[in-house]
Amino acid sequence: MSRGRFIVFEGLDGSGKGTQIELLVSEMKKQGRTVFQTAEPTASSTGGMIRDALSGLVKRDAYELSALFLADRIFHNVNPSGIRHYLDEGIDVVCDRYYYSSFAYQGSEADPDWVMDMNLGCREITRPDLCFFLDVDIDSCDERISRGRLSREIYENKEAQTRIRKKFFDVFEKLGDRENIRIINAARDIPEVAAEILKIYEEIKEK
Ligand code: TYD
Repeated sequence: MSRGRFIVFEGLDGSGKGTQIELLVSEMKKQGRTVFQTAEPTASSTGGMIRDALSGLVKRDAYELSALFLADRIFHNVNPSGIRHYLDEGIDVVCDRYYYSSFAYQGSEADPDWVMDMNLGCREITRPDLCFFLDVDIDSCDERISRGRLSREIYENKEAQTRIRKKFFDVFEKLGDRENIRIINAARDIPEVAAEILKIYEEIKEK
């Protein structure tokens, strides 16, 4: 039995990840694949602490928050119904956000090298086979956030999003071809974006 494929979606808040994930996962299932669809932060108790920090209910230092995301990610990999289990069973995993978000979000406040070393150097944290970065301009993301929510999380303002978008690109450049990152222009129509994503998925599926 071959190992499952591990695919991650990244993008700013309001970049349309949710829609594209649903479309890819339903296409994969139509092709007869079994898919474990998941997201970070997880529903673990650490995930709960993270959500309280994101909502602004509890104030956390950027290093503290980086460490919480790290602990949550390790749990996400090693727990008996986690990422590693499914990949080992030959099941594909599609995850909404992963360590690239830590590099961009926490890495713009805490030391980015430290955040990267902790994640990339941890043997329990599985490296994705493919990461889609859905790139949309800040104004469109901001409009989508406003439409969808009553309140905003700590990073959901234009200033932070501008800083984080730049950080994502710095990080991708730094990672170079150590990671398989595909930057997708997600400002186009939903079906057009979905078709490009599917084409790239088809390529890696065969490998
Ligand atoms: P959430 O509302 O759960 O989902 P999304 O915006 O992806 O639909 O928000 C998750 C937030 O957590 C988002 O603002 C990005 C942030 N985040 C980090 O700051 N670091 C991380 O490592 C991860 C995984 C997420």
